[in-house]
Amino acid sequence: MPRLAVIGHPVGHSLSPQMHTAALREMGLAGEWSYEALDVPPDEFRRVIAGLPEGGFAGANVTIPHKRAAFEIADDPSEAVRAIGAANTLSFGGGRVAAENTDAPGLIASLPESPKGHRALVLGAGGAARAAAWALADVGAAVWIWNRTHRKTEQLASELRVRPVEPEATHRSLQLGRYEVIVNATSVGLGGSRGEGADLKALHLDADSFTERHVVVDLVYGASETELVRAARAGGAKVVDGREVLVRQGAASLRMWTKREPPIETMRQAIRQSDGREEASHGA
Ligand code: ATR
Repeated sequence: MPRLAVIGHPVGHSLSPQMHTAALREMGLAGEWSYEALDVPPDEFRRVIAGLPEGGFAGANVTIPHKRAAFEIADDPSEAVRAIGAANTLSFGGGRVAAENTDAPGLIASLPESPKGHRALVLGAGGAARAAAWALADVGAAVWIWNRTHRKTEQLASELRVRPVEPEATHRSLQLGRYEVIVNATSVGLGGSRGEGADLKALHLDADSFTERHVVVDLVYGASETELVRAARAGGAKVVDGREVLVRQGAASLRMWTKREPPIETMRQAIRQSDGREEASHGA
């Protein structure tokens, strides 16, 4: 009976166990597969992973703060994992640890249409932004990065061979008319809105610059809508929130482990049922 888990620290807030358990049930695999949460502090990560195959685990999702370490300990990191420098999905077999990053295809799958040939703006330069920018560039979007700390913008843009938004331009608000896809991969909005447009201001965005031409993805989600999502909706943009990306990255992981097609709508419903209970989050 193969076991699966999400490994994080802390991990109590994670919606992955209920989402995957609901999916396994719907797939008729509940008697065979199980999915649990494991709280593992950073200094124990390597030791715990090494013991998982013996404990009957076939794979694991890895979330904050272990995504970088998951890449480092992998015997077989995928091309995406090597490019992004982080993994969120481990598979065990034959004495080896394979690592994949399903945050990247999860983001692309959550978009209403392919971003190929479209212009995309990624806000942020941390791990989430890295995965988003790589994923969008990989499928043929033209990607720009903006980050509060410009030094990191330049570093990430040159590593991923995408374009930095120059600081002169950021004295003013970001000019959204230049882009079709906008992804918030910063932590702004986590823990709820600070009110009076403070979150939009932190991201150098004008509330009235969103239009129906935009697809706006906010990787942050919580019990209530983020300021960014509210403004984007009000402007007529198509909005994707972090829950959909969570569902899609989870589905991509489950597809890899079980070699079966996961029930996306069941996974969405499992997440929705927890609305109001969970705190704001950013990832699995
Ligand atoms: P993750 O790995 O989840 O992406 P992270 O590496 O801590 O998290 O990155 C957080 C991102 O949110 C960074 O891009 C950070 O900008 P800086 O590089 O300037 O720190 C961004 N961020 C956090 N708080 C912010 C704020 N108040 N305004 C603008 N950007 C912010």
